[in-house]
Amino acid sequence: MKTLKTLSVSLVAMSFAVAPALADPDDDQLVINDELEMVTETDAPAHLEGVGTIYSGWRFRSDETQSLQLDDFDNPGMLTVDAAADAFAAVDGSAGESCASCHDDVESFAGLSATMPKVDEETGKLVTMEDQINSCRTERMGADAWKWSGNDMQGMVALIGMQSRGMPVNVAIDGAAAPFWEQGKDMYYTRYGQLELSCANCHEDNYGMMIRADHLSQGQTNGFPTYRLKQAKLISRHNRFRGCIRDTRAETFAEGSDEFRALELYVASRGNGLSVETPAVRQ
Ligand code: HEC
Ligand code: HEC
Repeated sequence: MKTLKTLSVSLVAMSFAVAPALADPDDDQLVINDELEMVTETDAPAHLEGVGTIYSGWRFRSDETQSLQLDDFDNPGMLTVDAAADAFAAVDGSAGESCASCHDDVESFAGLSATMPKVDEETGKLVTMEDQINSCRTERMGADAWKWSGNDMQGMVALIGMQSRGMPVNVAIDGAAAPFWEQGKDMYYTRYGQLELSCANCHEDNYGMMIRADHLSQGQTNGFPTYRLKQAKLISRHNRFRGCIRDTRAETFAEGSDEFRALELYVASRGNGLSVETPAVRQ
């Protein structure tokens, strides 16, 4: 089998190690604040061919890392989310507006993040949450655009995301979204870099295995923006994609590129049915 051969070559380079004891996700249940039950395992959506069951990345983390997501008081991502709640109410830009002057309560965004990214009907463009926030800032507030992976931006993406916490990811992949989804799918199965590894080689063919010190998950995005202990901040989906592609020793795409928008849609669709977890905590 081609995949196995490539992997055995890459084994040395990436220090893949088969660890049967760790080959599966654990059986722990994610209940946040003792009340919000999350779906961390469910049947794969019909469009997914290579996988029968999908799992949240939470199920692959150590007990210690998992515990940080059980209670919002322990979740280090919440500080950035709290700052975003203040920013939501603060006037910024030449129009003298805050997000709250037009959107009242951030709770009005309940359900939105579960469906993002999605195609804007007027422009035909694939729109991520970051795009939407920056378009309100620049076009409606007269404020500067935020940097894609900055704390301001990812805090706001997480704050809006939290309004959908516990709801199933449900991005559309048909109609106007179809060409973007196809583009993202092609990328997912493209082998990148000197190591010639695709997303699928790691996250579909080999989840459960150990790679360096990491227990490899399915690479789901339902927890994003995610607080990464290693980077000590909330990180964006595109930042994570960059890191994974760089690990294959490839040139990578830019955060906010059309390529990563399409990949974001495709990867999100692989998690249709898992609960929105943001802000998740990962190693
Ligand atoms: C001057 C009014 C105004 C301000 C200020 C404003 N927005 Fe908007 N926003 C709109 C309008 C109008 C829309 C498009 C209509 C709609 O979908 O509600 C929109 C759409 C959105 C959407 C998409 C809603 C959806 O259901 O698709 C999000 C998310 C959003 N804004 C977030 C923000 C955030 C965050 C801020 C502050 C950084 C902000 N907006 C500031 C007027 C504003
Ligand atoms: C060489 C193996 C490898 C490749 C190839 C790879 N990743 Fe990863 N990825 C990892 C490792 C290791 C982690 C950290 C452990 C984990 O969460 O699986 C990770 C984590 C992730 C996460 C975070 C999951 C979470 O729950 O927070 C996402 C999303 C992700 N990868 C997406 C991708 C995408 C999209 C691609 C292709 C562009 C890709 N990865 C390619 C190894 C890889």
